[in-house]
Amino acid sequence: MKIVELTRIQPGAILAKSIFTANGRTLLKKGVSLSSSYVTRLEDMGFRYVYVEDAATADIQGEDSIPDEIRQEVLGRLEATFQKLQAPDGIQTMVNSGDLGREVLSIYRLLYNHLAGTGTMMVNLSALYSSDAHTYTHCMNVAVMATILGLAHGYSKELVEELGVGAMMHDIGKIEISPAILNKPDKLTELEYAEVKRHTRLGHDILRKQPDLLPSCAICALYHHEWYDGSGYPEGLKGDGIPEFARLMAVADVYDALTANRPYRDAWLPSDALEFMFTRTYKQFDPIFMRSFVKYVNVYPPGLTVRLSNKASGVVARPNEKNLMRPYILVTEEDGQPVIPYEFDLASNLNVTILHCGG
Ligand SMILES: [Fe+2]
Repeated sequence: MKIVELTRIQPGAILAKSIFTANGRTLLKKGVSLSSSYVTRLEDMGFRYVYVEDAATADIQGEDSIPDEIRQEVLGRLEATFQKLQAPDGIQTMVNSGDLGREVLSIYRLLYNHLAGTGTMMVNLSALYSSDAHTYTHCMNVAVMATILGLAHGYSKELVEELGVGAMMHDIGKIEISPAILNKPDKLTELEYAEVKRHTRLGHDILRKQPDLLPSCAICALYHHEWYDGSGYPEGLKGDGIPEFARLMAVADVYDALTANRPYRDAWLPSDALEFMFTRTYKQFDPIFMRSFVKYVNVYPPGLTVRLSNKASGVVARPNEKNLMRPYILVTEEDGQPVIPYEFDLASNLNVTILHCGG
């Protein structure tokens, strides 16, 4: 299979990975033939890439960090929780009863049990391409990345759980901000931006009232927009003065935001998002967590089309777990001419670089 931009899809191409809606329902099932009306519909919905079957790359498989069944359950339950919150008096009822904390902890454990059970230390979120951008997917992705980074840093199960739930719920305060402002496609006015910033304190207030959640969950919500150089909000904390959990999950939060569709721009490719984030190490991000991010989050999903500096091109075949920045490439063309496909190891050919991704 390979990842293809929707604008380049040949009618009749076979979908290689199911596409889900924001709440985890199946939109198009794996194996379906992509008619031009499907393609147009997906484009209208804001999708940019899909996985398609392809003879030359038939052996390439991409395992997601979270299998489809768990993804669907997590997203479905998150949606149900948010719907309860959005009902009249829902926030008060859910917050005062402690139901919110109980429910999100139980949802998070589905993710934790799977990730800890597989023992993997690599985040593969190819679903970045197979779901539209929405709160629930964002909650789940950030929680998955924070969990792996927490495990990689040797945190105890209890600490990872606090961090993971905090990551999953870091933006919960947005529930009290007007959607018209949150989804505004144009630049926000100063007043509107001040309103958006309130979501950190609002989230903190909600989470700290949950008896089932430890205080550090609420700390994630409060400080996830603090910047390493002190120019973030709400308090302008600096460097190690920002709680470690918040520094860790800020990396995951921004990465997932950049790689998702937003009302005001298209999704970025994971590798482009990472490159952008590198330029903001020390400014926005703690270098320690940027380093672990590079080590554990795979920004080159199998199936991604790449062009190399040696004039060869092909698709990512599989990650190199020792160095995620240097995956194995299945080369299918040289100098623009098809060749018998062969695997090329970027880790053993350090003079060759990936010039371009995504077709
Ligand atoms: Fe936020």
